[in-house]
Amino acid sequence: MPSNTYQQLHSKPPCLDKNAQTSYILSQMTLKEKIGQMSQCNNDAENLHTAIKNGRVGSVINEVDQDTINELQRIATQETRLGIPLLIGRDVIHGFNTIFPIPLGQAASWSTDMVELCAKIAAVESANSGINWTFAPMLDISRDPRWGRIAESLGEDPFLCSTLGTAMVKGFQGDKLSDSYSIAACAKHFAGYGASESGRDYNTTNIPENELRNVYLPPFKAVADAGVSTFMASFSDLNGVPATGNKWLLNDILRTEWQYPGFVVSDWGAIPQLVTHGLAEDEKAASFEACDAGIDMEMATDNYAEHLASLIESKKISLEQIDASVSRILKLKIDLGLFELPFAEPTIPTEHLNSFHSAVAKQAAIKSCVLLKNNQQILPLSKAAIDSLAVIGPLADDGYEQLGTWAFDGKAEHSITCLKAIKDYVEDSVEIKFAVGMETSRCNHHDDFDEAVNIASAADLALMVLGEEAILSGEAHCRSNINLPGCQEALINAIYDTGTPIILIIMAGRPLTLEKILPKVDAILYAWHPGTMGGPAITELLFGQECPSGKLPVTFPRTVGQIPLYYGQKNTGRPASEATFVDINSIKVRAPQTSLGMTSTHLDTHFSPLFPFGFGLSYSQFEYKNIKVSKYSVTLGESFKVAATISNIGKFDAEEIVQLYIRDLVGSVTRPVKELKGFQHIHLKAGESKNVVFNLHTDALSFYGRHMELTTETGLFHAWIGGSSDTELKTEFEVSMQSEEPQEFFSKYK
Ligand code: NOJ
Repeated sequence: MPSNTYQQLHSKPPCLDKNAQTSYILSQMTLKEKIGQMSQCNNDAENLHTAIKNGRVGSVINEVDQDTINELQRIATQETRLGIPLLIGRDVIHGFNTIFPIPLGQAASWSTDMVELCAKIAAVESANSGINWTFAPMLDISRDPRWGRIAESLGEDPFLCSTLGTAMVKGFQGDKLSDSYSIAACAKHFAGYGASESGRDYNTTNIPENELRNVYLPPFKAVADAGVSTFMASFSDLNGVPATGNKWLLNDILRTEWQYPGFVVSDWGAIPQLVTHGLAEDEKAASFEACDAGIDMEMATDNYAEHLASLIESKKISLEQIDASVSRILKLKIDLGLFELPFAEPTIPTEHLNSFHSAVAKQAAIKSCVLLKNNQQILPLSKAAIDSLAVIGPLADDGYEQLGTWAFDGKAEHSITCLKAIKDYVEDSVEIKFAVGMETSRCNHHDDFDEAVNIASAADLALMVLGEEAILSGEAHCRSNINLPGCQEALINAIYDTGTPIILIIMAGRPLTLEKILPKVDAILYAWHPGTMGGPAITELLFGQECPSGKLPVTFPRTVGQIPLYYGQKNTGRPASEATFVDINSIKVRAPQTSLGMTSTHLDTHFSPLFPFGFGLSYSQFEYKNIKVSKYSVTLGESFKVAATISNIGKFDAEEIVQLYIRDLVGSVTRPVKELKGFQHIHLKAGESKNVVFNLHTDALSFYGRHMELTTETGLFHAWIGGSSDTELKTEFEVSMQSEEPQEFFSKYK
């Protein structure tokens, strides 16, 4: 039964503010109870109930059953001395029961509204089970598609990642954490994990401080400013000091420089891994390094439980450090309202496919798909114009694989596949035949080719649904070769030889290298792993009920050897250009060195990507012209506008994502050749034009310079507006200390 102290804690006088409540609880706690709050256990940990009862557990990870969670909360709040409720954590990454597109797919929507709504629904469904903490968003800038976790990322660009990451946090956390359907978010993996060498998970990262501050940290700073509840330290080694023991990162930057008030959790088993890294000689030393660096809670392992008390006794760790960590943890529990209501109530129907959630999942998948090729406008299809369709591929009718990585709580049987959705849509008007073509996406034998070739030969069109099964991306699932896996290229060649036009749908957790198959297919719709409602979303796009609007959140290389390849690269002293590019095949034997152009390129491939960041076709076409800045001379501290006219010159009403890029031509450190600084969604009817205006402040041009200070430097800038990062529609402006011309607005864009 609850003790007296419990009753005092749970019936706080109304005058007690959250800080006073935290201090009060802290003042009642023994050292062991404090260390207990700093420990998270997996749901299958031995003697979990006893450990909770003894005040040794602050959080439980991976329990999703509502009754079980309520029982754990009952033990924590009613059978312990102090009755402190538990944080119940789970990786709710892109949906809970209803699975939305993988984060990289959601990022292709460039839609803050959509990303926020998907996170909100994930919060509602998971909170209904009793979960109150998710380990998302993953904000690691990802520029290496070999890395399996690129699937969980929001892509390669700091601005896009910051904007969408903030939207995701808002979706999870809602207006108030104490609302029943808000859950705490976690910004992970702090920091630099995306730069793992060679795209091998958990690997070393070496990131110069300037690059770290300008590229890798901004999304974390953005969500810290937006009030994300928690941070997770990365598994990876950052410039020689693993993030989990990196005091400079966790203390100097996060807590001191950014004044971040929330708490930091380690990644799974990352504290004992400090021994494996070679930073600490044993687990006690590892506990010291982690705690001293600023890890407030240990995930899954028990190093803190084992060693913190003796580290305090020997005065290596101070009681003040422990109190600070525990206060941060208690504060979140108070903010979540767990002291008032620790239990989940079955207030929404828990069965899957609540129709609103499904409708949003379909919309999210529609917005995430990127049309990469559409030869002779073969898409959209009209069911009146085709008699037969051959649907081919291991991913065409597999409800599990379309969910992608990190979809623990989604169920394959709730997915609607492409095959099912297409059949439902065309009913009897088009003959549909299906052949799997390959047993799995990875398989290397051709045993199932014949059937696929036969149905393709007899059909008007072949619709191939290929790519990567879910297991090929995600944590620890990295690839050294990012072609279509197994014998998929051979399957495409075999279908190509039938002469039947091919529409290729790709489901994948990363950009794939598609150069070889590009000429063989008439259209490519890149669907990432689209989630539960992938089939209906793809069908609506194929048949023109919806028009594709997704844009790539990451560059698609031609070959794996180009990696890392991203649009925001530095110019170098010898930049590649069309004017100097030399195709090695055009060079005679023993040509002089200098005939090779002497620029920063590979000899055996073009220097450009296959598809640039920001690229994505529509069924319509857009014309961009008339770019202007509101003033050529901008004074530091001022706002100004950049605008252009966009016209829908195609036949379809359509949405376009208009992108603004800038380049700071000369800096105290070299700046990227282009940087995204804004984007807007516009809807244009066929034939319609709109002026799109971006408001910029000179602060948006700031960066960390040579002395690691955030400043906007004066000088000349270029600005581009377009439908992709390779836009050429450019203007320029100058930032100066003093305005040299009178303020004027160009009236058209007022
Ligand atoms: C390890 C992963 O790196 C992290 O992202 C995840 O949240 C935790 N495991 C918990 O599952």
